[in-house]
Amino acid sequence: MRMELLVIEGGKRLEGELELQGSKNSALPILAAAAVTGETSILKHCPYLRDTDAAMRILRHIGCTAERAGDTVIVRSDAPKRWEIPDALMREMRSSIIFLGALLSRFGRAELSAPGGCDIGLRPIDLHLSALSALGVRIEEQCGRLCCSAPKGLHGAAITLPFPSVGATENSILCAVTAKGETVIRNAAREPEICDLAAFFNGCGARISGAGTDTITVEPAARFRATEFTIMPDRIMAATFLAAAAVTGGSVCVHRAAPQYLVPVLPYFEQAGCVVQTQGDDVLLHAPRRLQSTGLVRTMPYPGFPTDFQASAMVMAALSQGTSVFVETIFENRFRHVPQLRRMGAHITVHNNVAVVEGVPQLCGAAVQATDLRGGAALVTAGLAAQGETHVSCVGHIDRGCERFEQNLALLGARIKRIETDTE
Ligand code: UD1
Repeated sequence: MRMELLVIEGGKRLEGELELQGSKNSALPILAAAAVTGETSILKHCPYLRDTDAAMRILRHIGCTAERAGDTVIVRSDAPKRWEIPDALMREMRSSIIFLGALLSRFGRAELSAPGGCDIGLRPIDLHLSALSALGVRIEEQCGRLCCSAPKGLHGAAITLPFPSVGATENSILCAVTAKGETVIRNAAREPEICDLAAFFNGCGARISGAGTDTITVEPAARFRATEFTIMPDRIMAATFLAAAAVTGGSVCVHRAAPQYLVPVLPYFEQAGCVVQTQGDDVLLHAPRRLQSTGLVRTMPYPGFPTDFQASAMVMAALSQGTSVFVETIFENRFRHVPQLRRMGAHITVHNNVAVVEGVPQLCGAAVQATDLRGGAALVTAGLAAQGETHVSCVGHIDRGCERFEQNLALLGARIKRIETDTE
């Protein structure tokens, strides 16, 4: 069987500038939202990724058209005909549960398989389901399939989430936007991607206020209209490229990085000894010869330190002077990159959800395996700094969220290539 590897020859200082991709985590719910409106949505800066591709396939399956021209995706949803998503399509993308709210909103019913366990944790959907129930959805589970309907129609409701889940907040908005009456979501997620979803719907005629705070009010649209919308920049990829520059002692400028969304991570780079400057929408980073340890980092919902950046931040810590500690509070299984980093010479010990990282002066190239998207990107980052050659396998995880990753890194001077090889 053929498989792809990223091969990195480490030790090259990254230098230069690059244009940041649009946000995966914003594009996915907005692609689902485009199915709700019944109109044409022109989505600009929509990243070209395995996950956005999967979302477009789901849209086509339910009867929408979804076409890409460069970084623009056009969705027409005037005549969708199916409210079920087959298992195979659901399995292609972990975030496909976001289509549950969209299908219910559009058809008043939905049938799809519950997403299975996942590489970074169990990812249950109980919060999604109880929020949707409050909006009038009846949920039955039959042989692993969720059969949902709204026998009396969707109605606005007061929803209080026990935890500010990003996906549950998005599914609540997707469903509430066609419900009868107002919905108030309390303890909502405050991530910038939620603001982007609200802005998209508001552009289509809905009235959603409070996005970005913990209380969101959704007043449904009387009628949706066609819209053109630009997806926000990918704040996690911005941090990922900055980390790649940091571990190589490099100096980069990330264009269109929207520094306002990077407030939770920029102090981390400064603490590590990097000089960070923002100029309009650009972020510039100059790294020192050796990074400093960063003390205690605790992942939290936005505006806390993002769990999606924990793995790459850990690579910085692994190469720094001193000891750093990471407490992962969002997902229960998000240290799967640690054994791989250890193969490269990192000194990291894990006790439950706490990782203690003793910085070493140098990592060494090794054959490692990406176990999830962000962990995979972190292994590439480690490879860029390591002495010798690093081979990262299971590249498919990385392709879910990093657009033209190796091309962008090569633009900054990295020696990285993708090769195809035979598995034994
Ligand atoms: C989204 C992001 C992901 C990011 C995460 C946290 C997308 C496509 N993905 O994932 O990149 O890492 O936010 O910032 O936007 N939970 C429950 N029950 C539920 C829902 C969630 O217990 O019904 C738990 C999860 O298991 C997890 C925590 O809540 O431990 C956070 O999950 P959530 O905020 O929902 O993350 P996602 O929307 O899956």
